[in-house]
Amino acid sequence: MNIAIIGAGNVGGALAKSSVRAGHTVTLSAKDPSHAEAKAKETGARAVSKTADAVNAADVVTLAVPFTAVDSVIAELGDALAGKVLIDVTNRMKREAIAESVDGTSAAEQIQKKAPKAKVAKAFNYAFASKQADPDVDGQSIDGYVASDDADAKKTTLELARSIGFRPIDAGPLAMARALEAMAILNIALQIQNGWPWQSGFKLIGPTPDKKPS
Ligand SMILES: NC(=O)c1ccc[n+]([C@@H]2O[C@H](COP(=O)([O-])OP(=O)(O)OC[C@H]3O[C@@H](n4cnc5c(N)ncnc54)[C@H](OP(=O)(O)O)[C@@H]3O)[C@@H](O)[C@H]2O)c1
Repeated sequence: MNIAIIGAGNVGGALAKSSVRAGHTVTLSAKDPSHAEAKAKETGARAVSKTADAVNAADVVTLAVPFTAVDSVIAELGDALAGKVLIDVTNRMKREAIAESVDGTSAAEQIQKKAPKAKVAKAFNYAFASKQADPDVDGQSIDGYVASDDADAKKTTLELARSIGFRPIDAGPLAMARALEAMAILNIALQIQNGWPWQSGFKLIGPTPDKKPS
């Protein structure tokens, strides 16, 4: 796949690393182009100074920016997002009152409204950057849940998840992003509350056989 990752921080770098390792072509952009260049050097991706250049050439666009930057990214890209698979990895968090971050809405649904022509999928937000770079824990792949209302976005994102080492799981419609975002908040709160080392990921146990993306 030809993947444009918008954002070259923890998440952009981690997904660039696993995606390049899986054989995908990855282009990174950031607010400061020198940050994208540095992360590209580290990961084997390419860097561009204009996000639109990466998006225009991509089959898949991954949004790896703070949620507060989403409006400016979408405004800057305009119609360039039309018809693109747009993977939303963002989380919204009230740092001072983490539990209140679970508020019954989702960033992904808001993004779909702001970019109605994009094919939005929610994925990878429930995994810490360390696990996005390497979803293997003691020889087991952690789960890669994907929620989307668009069949192509769902299929493509499940394929991407599998290729970079997650166990892909179809989580249903985009509204299930509310659950996936709540999972991220739970995982973050658990690390803080218990002093855990930000390395745990989700894996359902029991009869959850792998199902290939159809
Ligand atoms: N960290 C995690 O483990 C983790 C896990 C799952 C989900 N998330 C979510 O993923 C998102 C990114 O998190 P992060 O930890 O990677 O944040 P980060 O390290 O702060 O990186 C954010 C990146 O977004 C870039 N950016 C900001 N505004 C931009 C714009 N208008 N155009 C292009 N790029 C822009 C920044 O550019 P500059 O470098 O130039 O500032 C930076 O490279 C957040 O929504 C976060 O909640 C994080």
